[in-house]
Amino acid sequence: MGCRSLCTFKKTTGTAKARIRETGTAKCIESLKNNCTLPVTIKHRIGVDNDDSFVNLNNFVRIIANAGADRFTVHARKAILKGLNPKQNRTIPPLNYDVVKKLKKSNPELLIEINGGLTNIDESLKALNDFDGVMIGRSIYKHPLRWSEIDQKIYRINKKHKSASKIIYSLIPYIEGHLSNGGKSWDICKHLINLVEGIPKAKIWRNQISNKSIKKELNIEYLLKLTTALEEMGY
Ligand SMILES: Cc1cc2nc3c(=O)[nH]c(=O)nc-3n(C[C@H](O)[C@H](O)[C@H](O)COP(=O)(O)O)c2cc1C
Repeated sequence: MGCRSLCTFKKTTGTAKARIRETGTAKCIESLKNNCTLPVTIKHRIGVDNDDSFVNLNNFVRIIANAGADRFTVHARKAILKGLNPKQNRTIPPLNYDVVKKLKKSNPELLIEINGGLTNIDESLKALNDFDGVMIGRSIYKHPLRWSEIDQKIYRINKKHKSASKIIYSLIPYIEGHLSNGGKSWDICKHLINLVEGIPKAKIWRNQISNKSIKKELNIEYLLKLTTALEEMGY
């Protein structure tokens, strides 16, 4: 279960809202647990609007644990439903890692992962001293190559570093298939361009792809030409 829809409980208020949240979520977890063999995990925040006390958070987590949740991923911000939209809710409520640390210390038997605001491998490794896991959202999406040594640094698995051009070449058959099924190149390129950053003329490279792709003028030959230029620069 994830926390994508922040609006679900908008129409109820106060204690009633907290109770519905706990019992409703517990019922979902129980049902998932009884009907599948996969681990059931939950992602949640540290509070909602004024319902942000540690007691309530801890209570929520214990109820959900009793319902059978195997792992908790806690976004270390509260959600502000009154006044902030989902995008603003990812940046404006302040991060509070200490409250999640307290949650883990109070429930050492539970698997508790931290989420929110972590931007690189070193920060994540440090967070693993306090938590059972780390979930990364925006940084891995926006800066995928920044994380290329993660298997080595966390799992000690030696993987050969793949350059941006190598990764893009490997995506060509997938892009061709998507285009021949009537898909748009931008569906893929808007993500792919994040591979090219922190190198000379990266912005120009990304703009060249974006401009053509958004106008539906990008073909495979053009993508290959620009990717070869990247490769020749050593990226
Ligand atoms: C591309 C992308 C997809 C995401 N998909 C989900 C999702 O399916 N379920 C979910 O609970 N959160 C999702 N999130 C939110 C993140 O898991 C995370 O809670 C949020 O971005 C805050 O963490 P961050 O500071 O590391 O980005 C997504 C975020 C990004 C950037």
